[in-house]
Amino acid sequence: MSFFKVCLLSNLSKEKPIKFNIDDIDILFVLDFQTEKVWAFDNNCNHADKPLEKGKWNPEKAEITCPFHKAVFSISENGAVKAPPACIPLNVYKTEIKIENAEKFVYVQLD
Ligand code: FES
Repeated sequence: MSFFKVCLLSNLSKEKPIKFNIDDIDILFVLDFQTEKVWAFDNNCNHADKPLEKGKWNPEKAEITCPFHKAVFSISENGAVKAPPACIPLNVYKTEIKIENAEKFVYVQLD
């Protein structure tokens, strides 16, 4: 279990997930709508192995809709499927914010 430094907190958006490649995994990061929490989840829809980065992000519900066949995953419910055709939860990653030299950095935990 390791934490990897991702970016400055100020690099992230509440409106749209941003992709980073961390340890050879494409992961999407987005700020929570109301708190300083950072959501992190796989950029890969497990229905047909397609990228989620152009999917529609719902900030209020913390849900992502796949742009290909419209599966919906709830990131705040540990990647649970909310609408088919996907049937397997999305991988969601734990994040932390650490202050270094007076700046806030995002870290992600990978197993
Ligand atoms: S590839 Fe995402 S719903 Fe089909």
